[in-house]
Parts: sequence; structure tokens; C-alpha cells
Amino acid sequence: MIMKNSDNIANLIQDRFPPEVQEIVTIAGKAAGQHHYKLYMVGGIVRDLLLGRPSPDLDLVVEGDAVEVARYFAEILHGKVTVHTRFRTATVKWDSMNVDFATARSETYARPGVLPTVKAGDIVTDLSRRDFTINSLAVDISSGEVIDPYNGIKDIEKRLISVLHEKSFIDDATRIWRAIRYEQRLDFTLEPDTLRLLKRDLDMLDTISRDRIRHELELVLKEEKPEKMIKRASELGVLEKLHPSLVGDNWLIETFRKAREVVSPDSPLTELFLALLAYRLSERETEELIVRLRLRKLQTQILRDASLVKGRLIKLRESGIKPSEIYNLLHGLSVTALTAVSIDTDSPTVKENIGLYLDTLRYIRTALTGKDLEKMGIKPGPHMKEILLKLLQARLDGQVTDKQGEIEMVRKQSNSN
Ligand code: CTP
Repeated sequence: MIMKNSDNIANLIQDRFPPEVQEIVTIAGKAAGQHHYKLYMVGGIVRDLLLGRPSPDLDLVVEGDAVEVARYFAEILHGKVTVHTRFRTATVKWDSMNVDFATARSETYARPGVLPTVKAGDIVTDLSRRDFTINSLAVDISSGEVIDPYNGIKDIEKRLISVLHEKSFIDDATRIWRAIRYEQRLDFTLEPDTLRLLKRDLDMLDTISRDRIRHELELVLKEEKPEKMIKRASELGVLEKLHPSLVGDNWLIETFRKAREVVSPDSPLTELFLALLAYRLSERETEELIVRLRLRKLQTQILRDASLVKGRLIKLRESGIKPSEIYNLLHGLSVTALTAVSIDTDSPTVKENIGLYLDTLRYIRTALTGKDLEKMGIKPGPHMKEILLKLLQARLDGQVTDKQGEIEMVRKQSNSN
């Protein structure tokens, strides 16, 4: 049940915020009070507080100058302040914490998709520039009063994602992806008018820079269940805006689930999810996606490596293949790409071979080094390189198992030459 009077909000904060967060809010309130400014908690944290969900970010809005408040706050907590002059916002970091302070502002968009022009304003104007009613809520830190000019609480109760006005997606089409993310994350529904506007304004996605679109996709892939958002984006015609050949179907749902199973819970899955999303694209389509989203170097590498491994599957399917051959096929390729192939394949042999490489082969080294070989009278150069390679292959295939074995192998080679 959602409560909205100030006593109840104060109780919710006491019950649901960890004590350290409550202390931070109190200190921030004092810092704002010093300057006679009003301070509000806004956005996701209020929404999540009412929903009883944990919220990772603490966003604060100051009616006044946020930078002054942030500086004062940082002094008390011995934190480091980073100021973003354009929006008069500041982030304070200390230990592993960070808090964002923003100056209450209004925004106008000169053209669709560009960053807005900003002007200082009060909390209500600040809330009016936001994406959805459920994010347009604020709590006055000093009184506990909830500011809810757009009936955000009602929408939270009805579990609806609603824009504040007709032009919301035109102003900022990244909100299309955000709408899908919130809807699927929170198990909400797009309010019918918002759904109509979203469909009407799909082409506005073309006004967004490639970097911003990629960032939205990265945010999706960082969610707990990105496949839900991708499926929904596919239904709504949003996914095809990234690339017409991408699909959010049952295969994707199943492989994302498997990915969560195979990767240890504390390792990030974002890149693996990206590799799986792009997995069924042809080589040409993969290259198109790389350009369309201006993918980062590491992401590009993973996608290209996955294509390479797919091209080597016939060999990897051979059950009698030697460990050194597996090594030669997979050495130097991204672990994430290999994991993606291993998740997708229905061949137990391919899975086994990739597993052998990932768990064992890639760590195997020769005991002898170039220096050791020099001491044995071998000159550095291509010949030495060849010997080291042969030693490694012999190690991988279990023909030699220790340093002594390697020395004997080198001697034999030298004698036969
Ligand atoms: N916001 C917006 N339009 C955007 C981006 C952000 O209106 N295109 C506003 C929303 O009010 C949002 C707040 O800025 O609540 C903070 O943005 P962000 O941190 O991205 O969202 P959160 O609501 O904190 O959501 P999340 O739980 O995903 O962190």
C-alpha cells in the first residue's frame, strides 16, 4: 500500500533507508539549510521508496544553488566534488558512496534529440521537465511533504508508465527505451495514451546520437532481466531501430537465462548479453550494428570474435580433435565470445572443447623460457620461437608434463637438426 502524508513518508524513510543513507539525507538537509535553500529527494529514489524497492542512487534537488550545497556537504563528509557547470549540478563522492545534487531547473528543447537549454526554477518546474509521472515525485527533506503535481502516486498505485505531456518522446526519444525499461523492470504497463505516443514517435529515435542510443542499450543490458525489455522493444518496433535483423524471441529469452546460469553471480553479464543479442546476425549485419551503435572497442572485439568462432564450429565439433588444435582455434579470442558460443551450441562436443580451453588450456605455459633456451645454446629468433611453440603444443597434448621432459625434447630436436 502506498502512503503519502508526511508522517508516513518519514516513517517509510526510517523503515526502508539504511541508517547511513538517513544520515546522509540529514547532513544534506543541514547543508542546504545553511544557505536557506530548500532541498528535495527526487526521481527514482522516491518512486522506489513508495514501491518498497531498493534504489541505488540518491538524487537531491536544491531550490537555490546545488553547487554551494554540494561543496558544504562535501566538506562535512570529506568528499570530492565534481561540478557540471552546464546544468549547475554536482556529484559528491566519498568512500564508495556518491550523491548527486541538482539545481531545480526548467528545460526547453531547441530541436528534438538535442540536449535541453536550462534555466533555474522551483521544484514544481523541475518535476515538469521529467520523463514519467512515477519519476516526477519529490519529498521535501525538511517537512517530509510529498510534491506530486502529476499524480505520480496514483500511477504507481495503478502500475502505469505515463508521460507528462504529448511531446515528451519528441523532446527526448531516449525516453522510449526508458519507458520500456521501467515497464518491464517494475512489471508496470504503458498507459494507453503513452503507448500511442510512443508508437507515433518511433522515428524520433533517429534524432538521437549513436552514443546516446548505445548508452540506452547498455542500461537495458545492465538490468536484471534484459530479455524482457528486448522482447517488448521487439514487439513495439523499437528493437529494429537498432538493427532490422535483431529479434527478441524465445531463443533470446532462453539464452539469456542460460547466460545467468553459467556466469558467476558477481561477474558482469552486460557484454555477454550484447554478444547473444547480436549472435544471429551475419558478419555483414554485425559490422552494421557496430557502426550504427558506435560500439566500444571491447564490445566490437567480442562481436567480431563471436563471428570468428562461429566460423570454426565445424572443426570444434570433431570429437577427436587434439587439445593443441583447440588451442590454436581459440587462442587470443575473447572469453565472452567463447562463452556466448558455448551457451548457444547444442553440440556437447563443442561445449566440452570450449570448456577445456577456458578452464585449462588457456592457462598452460611451457616451463622453459627463451632465456633457458639461450642457455642451452639456441639463438633468439624465428627458430627459437618455433621451438617454444612446439614445446607448448607438446605440453597442451600431454606429450611432456614437466621441465625435464621439455629439456629432453629440445635436446632431441637439436640433435636431429
Ligand atoms: N530523467 C528524465 N528524463 C531522462 C533521464 C532522466 O526525466 N531522459 C529524470 C527522471 O526523473 C529520473 C531522474 O532524472 O527519475 C534520474 O535519472 P536516472 O538516474 O536515469 O533514473 P532513475 O529514476 O534514478 O532510474 P534508475 O532506477 O534506472 O536509476
